Amino acid sequence: MSAAEPILEVANLVVELAGDDGMLRAVDGVSLSIGRGEVVGLVGESGAGKTLTAEAMLGLVRCPPGRVTGTVRFHGHDLLELGERELARIRGKEIAMIFQNPGASLNPVFRIGDQVVESMALHLPGARRDLRQRAADILQRVGIPAARTRMRDYPHQFSGGMAQRVMIGMGVSCTPSLLIADEPTTALDVTIQAQVLALIRSLAREMGMAVLLVSHDLGIVSQMCHRVIVMYAGRVVEQASIGTIFRAPAHPYTRALMACLPGLDGVARLGTIPGVMPGLTAVPSGCRFHPRCAVAEPRCAVEEPVLRDVGDAHRAACHLARRAGEGPRVQAAAMSARNGEPG
Ligand SMILES: Nc1ncnc2c1ncn2[C@@H]1O[C@H](COP(=O)(O)OP(=O)(O)OP(=O)(O)O)[C@@H](O)[C@H]1O
Ligand code: SF4
Ligand SMILES: [Mg+2]
Repeated sequence: MSAAEPILEVANLVVELAGDDGMLRAVDGVSLSIGRGEVVGLVGESGAGKTLTAEAMLGLVRCPPGRVTGTVRFHGHDLLELGERELARIRGKEIAMIFQNPGASLNPVFRIGDQVVESMALHLPGARRDLRQRAADILQRVGIPAARTRMRDYPHQFSGGMAQRVMIGMGVSCTPSLLIADEPTTALDVTIQAQVLALIRSLAREMGMAVLLVSHDLGIVSQMCHRVIVMYAGRVVEQASIGTIFRAPAHPYTRALMACLPGLDGVARLGTIPGVMPGLTAVPSGCRFHPRCAVAEPRCAVEEPVLRDVGDAHRAACHLARRAGEGPRVQAAAMSARNGEPG
C-alpha cells in the first residue's frame, strides 16, 4: 500500500479474546504496512480495535486464553514468532511506544531523570554519566525547560503535557525506526495537544522515523499523516493517502467520520454518526457497518464486503465502492439516498 519501502508489514492479524460463550474476535484479519519514514494514522471510533491491533503487533496483548495470530514483519523478523526477550529488545529500541496516559506510564516513586536514564540503559551502551548527559539533551530537545534541573523532579511535579513530552523523549532516545503513538494527546488540552503533535511530527521528520498514530480523531490524523487506515468493528474498512481520503472517500463509514469533523467555523457539521460501534458479542452479519449505514442495500446485511482496490493505493471494503470508471461511486449512491431516490 505504501510507496516507501515497508518497514512494518502486518498480514491477517487476528486477536481473539475469551468471552463467556467462547472466543470473540476483537481484531479480525487486519493487514497493513508502513513505509520507512511514513506517518500513518489508524483511525476509528472507540472499540474499533485500534489499541488491540497496536498491542498485538508488539506482543503486548496479555489475554490468556486469548490468542493472536497472523504475521508482523519488521526488519525481516516476524514479531509474533519472537520470544519475550527478543521482543523486549526490539520494543523500546527499534520500535518506541507512547500511550494515552503519560501519568500511568511513569513510575511515581522515581525521579524523571532516573527513569529516562534507566530506559536508555536497557538498550544503549555507555557510562551512566554519558547517558545522563544524553537524557538531558533529549529532554531539552522535546521542550522541557531547564531539563537538567527538572530531571531531579518526580512525575507528579510535571503537568500532563510535560509528562507526555518526557514519554516521547524516552521513546525516541534510542532513535527507533518506528514510533507507535496510541492516542498520545487525548488526555491533554487543545493547545498542549497541538504542541505535542507538532513535536512528534518534527521528530519523525528529523529522525526519518516512521509513525503509526492511533487516534479516534480524523482531524488530527489529517494534519499529521501521509496515509490513513480506517478501522471499524475489528476490521480495516478503508485505506488511502490523506489527499485521496478527503477528495474521494470510498467507504460510507469514512464519509460519516468526515461529516463529524468541525467546519472552518469550528462547529461539527453533522454531529455524530447514528448508532454505536457494535460490541464483540453482537457483531452484525454481512457488512458490520450496515445497521448504521445511510446507503445500505439488502445484500449488505448478508454479504460481507472484502477489502479491495478502488484506486491508486486506495482500498475499501464496501459493496458500493467502485474504481473510477467502474460505475457510480458510493458518493453518488449516498446523494441519491439522501434525496430519497434509489441508489
Ligand atoms: N482485555 C480485554 N478483554 C476483553 N475485551 C477487550 C479487552 N481489550 C479490548 N477489549 C474489547 O475489544 C474491542 C476493541 O478494543 P480496543 O481497545 O482495541 O478499541 P480502540 O479502538 O482502541 O478503542 P478506544 O478508542 O476506546 O481506545 C472493544 O470492544 C473492547 O471492549
Ligand atoms: S457494504 Fe453496504 S452497509 Fe457496508 S458500508 Fe457499503 S453500502 Fe454500507
Ligand atoms: Mg484504544
